[in-house]
Amino acid sequence: MEDKITLIITRRKLTEILIGLVTLLFAGGATAAIMKYLWPQVSASGAQNEVKIASVDEVQTGSSKKFLFNGKAAVLLHMPAGFRAFGAICTHLGCVASWKPDENIIFCPCHLGKFDPNTGAVVSGPPPSPLPAIDIVVKEGAVFALKWKDPNYVQSISFYAGAV
Ligand code: FES
Repeated sequence: MEDKITLIITRRKLTEILIGLVTLLFAGGATAAIMKYLWPQVSASGAQNEVKIASVDEVQTGSSKKFLFNGKAAVLLHMPAGFRAFGAICTHLGCVASWKPDENIIFCPCHLGKFDPNTGAVVSGPPPSPLPAIDIVVKEGAVFALKWKDPNYVQSISFYAGAV
């Protein structure tokens, strides 16, 4: 006696299974994209990938360079006391602030917000909190961004994710 199992799948059932699998793949991809957007990859220590911002010679004392850090607008300043880096997304309503050397401030043009270039603290205007500082290191003739000083910063500005 032969033991034989025969599985009969109708064309209609096969089509339903394939549509279900494709739907699962799309739903999984969309869910992963949403999760990555809401919770960017940040380790428990807040450490992220080291990003080269500029060579030391490229940013002379008193000047700046805009860059992107983890997809967010940021600015490197070369102050007399050394290099400083901050997120450049204004803490008021998310405009991009930039270095204004003639006034020695980081300036947000939207509502005239002003920030201290050494600390990121609010000097004047409506911004409710300082610009977020970025830990940097100078090595091998270049300046590298290491991580946000406040590891919760990236999550707190997800609202402004498109601003650069
Ligand atoms: S958005 Fe910068 S001061 Fe309002």
